[in-house]
Parts: sequence; structure tokens; C-alpha cells
Amino acid sequence: MISNRQLFLSYNAQTTEMPLLIEIERAEGVYMYGPNDEKYLDLISGIGVSNIGHRNREVINAINEQAEKYLHLMVYGEYVQSPQLQLANELCKMLPDTLDSVYLVNSGAEAIEGAMKLAKRVTGKYNIMACKNSYHGSTQGALSIMGNEEYKDAYRPLLPGINFIEFGNIDDIDKIDKSYAAVVIECIQGESGINLASKDYWQKLRKKCDDNCCLLILDEIQSGMGRTGKYFAFEHYDFVPDVLVLAKALGAGLPIGAFIANRKLMHTLTNNPILGHITTFGGHPLSCAAALAGIKFLKDSKLIQEIERKHQLFRSLLIHKSIKEIRGIGFMLAIQLESFEFNKKVIDECIANGVITDWFLHCSDAMRIAPPLIISDDEIRLACEVILKALDKVTINS
Ligand SMILES: Cc1ncc(COP(=O)(O)O)c(C=O)c1O
Repeated sequence: MISNRQLFLSYNAQTTEMPLLIEIERAEGVYMYGPNDEKYLDLISGIGVSNIGHRNREVINAINEQAEKYLHLMVYGEYVQSPQLQLANELCKMLPDTLDSVYLVNSGAEAIEGAMKLAKRVTGKYNIMACKNSYHGSTQGALSIMGNEEYKDAYRPLLPGINFIEFGNIDDIDKIDKSYAAVVIECIQGESGINLASKDYWQKLRKKCDDNCCLLILDEIQSGMGRTGKYFAFEHYDFVPDVLVLAKALGAGLPIGAFIANRKLMHTLTNNPILGHITTFGGHPLSCAAALAGIKFLKDSKLIQEIERKHQLFRSLLIHKSIKEIRGIGFMLAIQLESFEFNKKVIDECIANGVITDWFLHCSDAMRIAPPLIISDDEIRLACEVILKALDKVTINS
């Protein structure tokens, strides 16, 4: 009989020569299980998705309830569908008053595309400033603003008018002028190996955008929905973006994205021409029902209040001579090691011992620690024990 692994390699389009090839049969909470009952502690949450864990019971109930009513009815923006409007309403209640209009899409990249199109319509301009080492998705617009040339060269020509500044560098903000429609920037840079900017940086960037009629589009696709210890990471820095972009954890395990702006700005998508962004499945009823249940769970639980303490627990346990630095905030952490080769060996050893972690797209010599927010203190201790043993083993052998 052909194994699932062989089927995967034969029929699934491959994106890398070295896929992880971990086979998962079911998942629950912070754990994933293989076909032979292998048990894996998930330290990466499917890259920032499973914030409230795998198969949260209330989310499953909400999906089942919605499945009994209707699935897809019509393209986004025509019919009045309760799961969509309840989700949009809930998100607006969680956000500052100026962010009062929600466009629901399917994914992070699509939400970024929508936000970039919105900036063109609102400002009448098309230049976009993005950051070096950024990641905003893999569609051609999102790829155009990726701050890593290596992944882009094979796909040129991409969008014109894109320039890059260094994330967190206050002086670089002066490169933004009136020619720009938008700055697209992650609130916490994820795939660069977790980088943070100062409060001063965000204040200056906000002012620069205002002074130059340039929209501040904030990508919180990875940092949103509680991962940094606030519902949205921008709450740490006392500013409000013009457009907030969400996806990943928003759907509590189902696919959904959103770009959120002021109603007046969003209105530009409705005329000259109409249908400024069209999506068949955007805001799918099942995804909206899951998202709504996920937000309710997050709000009713004390998870967010616990993140800083659990973050410190990771830091206090992860002490090893091979760790050069630990960067991050909340549950967006990077353990800096000496090289990719070293990091890969440690990661392989962790996975062999039942703890799943990985590296970052633009920072292959750092290990990602981004568990579901529901991880317990004991599970953190267990994860750190496995990581430290792996570090010991690889350090001795290298
Ligand atoms: C910061 C950030 N923006 C955008 C995206 C793209 O989201 P998606 O994969 O849903 O298109 C990602 C995905 O990893 C991301 O981390």
C-alpha cells in the first residue's frame, strides 16, 4: 500500500526540497498526534495560527452550529450574513473608534493586497514604502513589498514604486515623503527573526505618515489576536494605524483575513469603479463563526493576562551557553544560535523528542518559539527541558 508520505511526495505540489514530513492524524490543545500515537508539543502554532490551541471545543461547536444553517451563499458584500456582521461588529468593538469598517477576505496575503489597493484609491498615489526583511505574503503585490530580494528575483517584473527602509530605524523614517501612498509595516517583525521597534519609532512614523498624506498600513497577521500579550500589538505603542491587517489566528483554525479601516476610507472601494475588491469566499460563514467563537474564548479566558508571566518563564528557563540572545515579546520569541546548521540540528533533535519548532524565513539561525497561548507552565518547562537537552547534545557534537 502507498503510504501517506509517498502520496504527499508524489501528488502534493512541493515548495521545498526538505519538507518537515511530520504526519499528523489529530490535534488537541497544544498537542498534535501522529498515526502511531506519536505526541508532539506544538511550539509554533502552525505559524501563529492556533493561538487558542487546536480544536477549541467552543470553536468546534460554533462551526457545527453554522454548518447546520448555511455554508457559502454569495460573493462577499451582497447578502446580509449574520456570522460576517457579528464578527465585524465584534472586531470594531475591540478597536479604536477610527477603525470601524471591516473587509473580510480569505488570507493574510489577500488582506494585504486589499489594503494596498485601498491606499491607491484613498491617496491617488501608488508608491509604497515597506521594510527590509519583511514578510507580507506570497501573492505578487505582497511579494513586491517583501524585504528580501532572494525570493523576488525570479518573479520580476513586480509592482513599481516600492522602496524599503530598515525596520525600527528612526532616521530611515525621513525617507518617506509625499510621493508615497502607504507604508506597509509589521507591528512586530516576524520572519526577520522577531524584531521590535520603540514607542518613539511608532510615534514618529505615525506623524510622518500624517504629514505626507500616506496611509500607515499595519500588518498584525502574526502579532494579532493576543500573541504579544495584548489583543493587538499596536496597543503596546500608543498609536493607531490607518489600516489594520489581520489573518492567521483570527479564524481560530479556519482560513480568514481582514483589512480594517475607517468607513470613509473604505467607501472609496464602492465607486469609480464599483467593486474595488471582489472575493467569492472572503468572510466565509464557517470561518466567521469560528473567529467569533475564538474571540469570545480569548475574552472570557485569562490567557492574555498570563502571557507576560509565561514569556518570562521561557526566558528564565532558556539559559544555555549556545544561546546568543533571546528576542521577542509575549509568545513571539526567537532564540538566536550560531548558524543555520547548528539551529537545524537542534530543531531536528527537538522534533525527534516530541517538541515542534522551526526557524524563520529570513533568519535561519534563530529558533521560533510561538506556542498556543493556552500552553501551561508545566508544558513550558517540558518544552524548555527538551530544547536544553537538544542544545547540550548538538553543542557537544559540534
Ligand atoms: C506578518 C505576515 N504577513 C502576512 C502573511 C501572509 O499570510 P498568508 O499566508 O495567510 O497569506 C504572513 C504569513 O506568514 C505573515 O507572517
